[in-house]
Amino acid sequence: MKVLGIESTCDETAASVVVDGKEILSNVVASSSDIHEQYGGVFPELAARKHAEMILPVVEKALVCDIDLIAVAKGPGLIGSLLVGMQFAKGLAIAMNKPFIGVNHVEAHLYAAMMGEQAHFPALGLVLSGGHTLMLRIDGLGQYTKIGTTVDDAVGEAYDKVATMLGLPYPGGPHVEKLAKNGDPQKFPLRAGYVKRSPLDFSFSGLKTAVLYSMRGKTMSDEDKADLAASFQETALRDLVHKAKLAAQTFPCQAVYLGGGVCQNERLKELFSEAFERVYFPPRELTLDNAAMIAGLGYHKYTGCSDPLDLEPLTRIPI
Ligand code: KG4
Ligand code: ZN
Repeated sequence: MKVLGIESTCDETAASVVVDGKEILSNVVASSSDIHEQYGGVFPELAARKHAEMILPVVEKALVCDIDLIAVAKGPGLIGSLLVGMQFAKGLAIAMNKPFIGVNHVEAHLYAAMMGEQAHFPALGLVLSGGHTLMLRIDGLGQYTKIGTTVDDAVGEAYDKVATMLGLPYPGGPHVEKLAKNGDPQKFPLRAGYVKRSPLDFSFSGLKTAVLYSMRGKTMSDEDKADLAASFQETALRDLVHKAKLAAQTFPCQAVYLGGGVCQNERLKELFSEAFERVYFPPRELTLDNAAMIAGLGYHKYTGCSDPLDLEPLTRIPI
């Protein structure tokens, strides 16, 4: 079954054709992140306009063959961005006389790590991106139990905000990681967020503020900035690993699957690979927002019935 995936939840317009949930025939991504750079975060209205401009050429480029199904990310995400992909998918489904379904973007990030891999369930899943920090038990595709989430900022969002404080461009994650490579992670004594009575939840806003206070009233040399980036990164990533280890002890965990943009981070990969025997990360092209993960998951979610044409995008979807 050939599935066309369409992704437009945030600032990437993407389309992809995937066969039987795993063989990628095309994977096209157009990002508008350069437009948002000056704002230090995604400017929703500008993102939506860019989607409207890019969706047709991106889908045209990705449509390398005939297809059987259209899968679209129905949320969570920015409403203006979501609407463009959703309306386009519906229009295309009518014009091509194909069924269409909406899939959950967060679940798709997790699926990216499982795509083409052997399934080892029950497993621990972590979605670490600019919008989400979610930890769950996976008993099968679509069978999830939430274990922990962030009570404030997502980990990628914390990276982006720390990057802005350090004078680095958006999206900040890769820049903070690069700077941290030359820094001493012990230099600034930072502490990870602890959520009272919820030891498996995350909090990154205190850590972010601590970074801000560490800079206040000081002239930061390049070396200081590198040390601060390294201290922030080590604290945030060790917190993720520590809580993942605690979570894995609560059930007979067979493997860990990680998805989302923060999984581009080499230090994160190192720490998780040291902590767990069987860890799966998505390949590079499936880590940031993309439509192959949408098409891949769409294949598994399709039960032979098209979603109704009045399907609405959702800015938030409980998992
Ligand atoms: O999954 P994604 O493309 O979008 C969302 O669904 O949010 O993730 C984007 C996030 C941004 O916050 C970005 O700073 C972060 O992933 N990111 C990284 C790295 N590369 C991207 N964070 C840490 N280290 C990286 N190398
Ligand atoms: Zn995403």
